[in-house]
Amino acid sequence: MKIMSSCFGLLLLVMSCQNAEQEQPAAIENSEKIVYDMYQPSEMANLMNAMYAHNETVKEAILAGEDIGQFPMDFLEIHTAELSEFKYRNETFQSFSQLFILAQKELYNPDAETSQVSRFNNVVNLCIACHQTECTGPISRIKKLHIK
Ligand code: HEC
Repeated sequence: MKIMSSCFGLLLLVMSCQNAEQEQPAAIENSEKIVYDMYQPSEMANLMNAMYAHNETVKEAILAGEDIGQFPMDFLEIHTAELSEFKYRNETFQSFSQLFILAQKELYNPDAETSQVSRFNNVVNLCIACHQTECTGPISRIKKLHIK
């Protein structure tokens, strides 16, 4: 019984992370739909989607050789944004948030010693690193940000 309920908890976690993903198998489409209707994106989910969109634009700018602008201060909300239900900030989460912010800031550092492409890919790797501990659903999408 204990195993059952912890599996169920895990399922809920996974589902709340995967709602943004559109590729649901047909068989569970109906039950998934109900969850989707009730789904209110958390502050964190909104921030994450904004971070994704921003880094997509940065990637395009880098590939086009254009200026990437400045570090978006909104990203600092990763330390405070409200999470979905069933989620909380533990120490791992907090250290990944810090590493991610450092990497994203370094991307905009004019005196950096490594190439812009490698700094950008480092940002993406930190998105993925945190997601491996927290929320694996969006990882395949995030990987598409890598500059090859
Ligand atoms: C410190 C950990 C951490 C980092 C770093 C992180 N994420 Fe997330 N991400 C999360 C968590 C936790 C959620 C689930 C948020 C929720 O449901 O409240 C999430 C959710 C998402 C989602 C799904 C949002 C939705 O609509 O449900 C996407 C997409 C995403 N992240 C992309 C990214 C990208 C891109 C980056 C890097 C630019 C990134 N994440 C960095 C922890 C992280």
